[in-house]
Amino acid sequence: MIKPINFTKYYKEILSELMLAFSEFILSGQYIGGKLVEKFEDKVKKYLGAKHAIGCKSGTHALQLALLAAGVEKGDEVITVANTYYATVYAITAVGATPIFCDILPENGQIDHNKIEAKITKKTKVILPVHLYGIPVNLGEIRKICKKYKLILIEDCSHAFGTRLNGEYIGSDSDFGCFSMYPTKNLGAFGDAGFITTKNKKYESKIRELIYLTDAKRVKFNPKAIHAMLDPLQAALLLVMLDKMDQARKDRIERADEYRKNLEEYIRISKVGSDSVVNPHMFPIFIKNRNKLIKFLADSSVHVQVHYPTNLHCLSQFGSYAKGYLPETERHNREEVSLSVHPSVSISEVKKICKLIKQYVEINK
Ligand SMILES: Cc1ncc(COP(=O)(O)O)c(C=O)c1O
Repeated sequence: MIKPINFTKYYKEILSELMLAFSEFILSGQYIGGKLVEKFEDKVKKYLGAKHAIGCKSGTHALQLALLAAGVEKGDEVITVANTYYATVYAITAVGATPIFCDILPENGQIDHNKIEAKITKKTKVILPVHLYGIPVNLGEIRKICKKYKLILIEDCSHAFGTRLNGEYIGSDSDFGCFSMYPTKNLGAFGDAGFITTKNKKYESKIRELIYLTDAKRVKFNPKAIHAMLDPLQAALLLVMLDKMDQARKDRIERADEYRKNLEEYIRISKVGSDSVVNPHMFPIFIKNRNKLIKFLADSSVHVQVHYPTNLHCLSQFGSYAKGYLPETERHNREEVSLSVHPSVSISEVKKICKLIKQYVEINK
């Protein structure tokens, strides 16, 4: 059976290093916050070339913390997309703000930067794009819009750890870069974990205050705080995984290249600009009547996933927009199938998946 990820196989190979990190955590004597969290923050910041990095409990918390630190509150509007994980939009409503949905570019599934300006009102405070599947959004154009309208840019980088755009890592030069380290992510923890990058010292202090409930001197308390520290056990294990990142990225790119080479003539895939070196989180393909393909693959013991099937803009908690409101997003959510690029899936398994998909396309011509 080919599963999207085989954690057991993957981690068995580095078990001794992970056990050593686990011992270091136990013997550190610091089980909340402390040196290991600081070490992780320092290392991840240097890896990405970011000014500040602050560990937190999850990607969902990272987004909420960024929105709170940006001063977003009830009555504010945040422009985002509806082809993302629920948490992206949930974070906006969790701080009391209203999500405003922008459609996507059909060629790569990312926010259509040409349609953002039409969504801006007096209430707009933030643009919150998602670098979906690790493919970067058009940051250059979005930054220009933010500057023109004095908006804050919060990037959901959950899929994009290790992606470079014009030579710079995603999240390295952000108002806020929000990362999930959910176990399946490019930099995956062994439980819930996340972090935020920022180029702004004031935002860094604000985020720490929100995470720790109080300021650095422990005299001022913050009623909007969310108790959401990064667990030092996760930090200890993530330090090991960060050392494996360059190899893991090579492996992911190798798998994505294999899919692209084999499938681009047969099926719709996403286009990646020459300005980007993508660290792929998944390899999305698009096909009508996808359940038929998913069943065909499952019959040969290949299990694939969909990211994400729900039209978030149609949910009552996010505004109950009618179907047809975001045609490209809805098509994306209807046709997407995610092929795994996880290093635990071998190249020969990738080749087998490609062969089956080609077969399916030929049969259903
Ligand atoms: C795009 C996106 N945003 C946010 C999140 C939330 O991250 P977490 O699960 O760490 O809370 C995820 C995680 O699945 C995600 O894929």
